[in-house]
Amino acid sequence: MSRILFLMLAGLVLCTTQAMADTLRISVIGAGKVGGTLGTLWVKAGHSVMFSSRHPEELTDLVKTAGPNAQAGSLSDAAAWGEVIVLSVPYGAMPVLSEQLKGKLDGKVVFSTSNPFSGRDAEVGRKALDLGVALADQQYLPGVHLARAFNAIGYASMKDLSGKGKAIPVFADDAQARELGARLVRDAGFVSVLSPLARANEGLPGGPLSGVWSEAELQQAGPLASNPGLSSASSATLLRLHRPVESTAEAQQRLI
Ligand SMILES: NC(=O)c1ccc[n+]([C@@H]2O[C@H](COP(=O)([O-])OP(=O)(O)OC[C@H]3O[C@@H](n4cnc5c(N)ncnc54)[C@H](OP(=O)(O)O)[C@@H]3O)[C@@H](O)[C@H]2O)c1
Repeated sequence: MSRILFLMLAGLVLCTTQAMADTLRISVIGAGKVGGTLGTLWVKAGHSVMFSSRHPEELTDLVKTAGPNAQAGSLSDAAAWGEVIVLSVPYGAMPVLSEQLKGKLDGKVVFSTSNPFSGRDAEVGRKALDLGVALADQQYLPGVHLARAFNAIGYASMKDLSGKGKAIPVFADDAQARELGARLVRDAGFVSVLSPLARANEGLPGGPLSGVWSEAELQQAGPLASNPGLSSASSATLLRLHRPVESTAEAQQRLI
């Protein structure tokens, strides 16, 4: 074999290996409106997705629509299979999930779209809102690398791609969660703007970082709001950027 042919083959193997490493195994726990929509977008982006449900046999249509790299599984299958676990459930399910997933997600990135609402999720929702949703997540799922995103954009804007190219915040602290969290947002067609987990409540429906933005707007709101001692000028800018078009109750109706 000539030296040139050998080098070409070696290059091909390297590219293939790289391409494989570039695709993720994504498990979606809660394959409803949001989980089903995002999972389908990620399959279209080249990733492999396992949709899970308490009734995986009911996911046949979703798997078929998503494409050949989609499959369905149980909660345990999904927890074991995915490199990244997407959690898209009503927050009231967190105590039960915490028990069922105990020790199964250690060291994995968990990417949550799940929102606590005081109405729908009762005491569980109220406690998470008071404590801070990211802290609550970490209490339910200790040992994971947490990222939160897509918390206050309707699933319809993901599905019909009307949010495509718009910026949304990705709340994450550690390197792994930041990298994978930002990637999942990008691969669903959005622009990711990283923000610390301590600000995750601001990204909930009705919060100052909810909705979709231009990247410049969100970058501007990000550093300003992360400073607990906001100057009045900073606060004014943040208020201008914030579009308080709906109350939390209205947002809940729209995004529940
Ligand atoms: N709808 C929106 O536009 C929107 C936008 C942003 C964020 N969110 C938030 O994202 C989350 C999901 O919203 P969604 O609209 O997709 O809800 P959804 O359509 O009702 O789907 C929720 C899924 O959670 C699963 N689930 C419920 N209880 C569970 C449990 N105990 N264990 C395991 N799975 C459980 C259900 O799956 P099975 O019954 O098949 O097990 C269901 O498919 C919510 O927290 C919501 O507030 C929603």
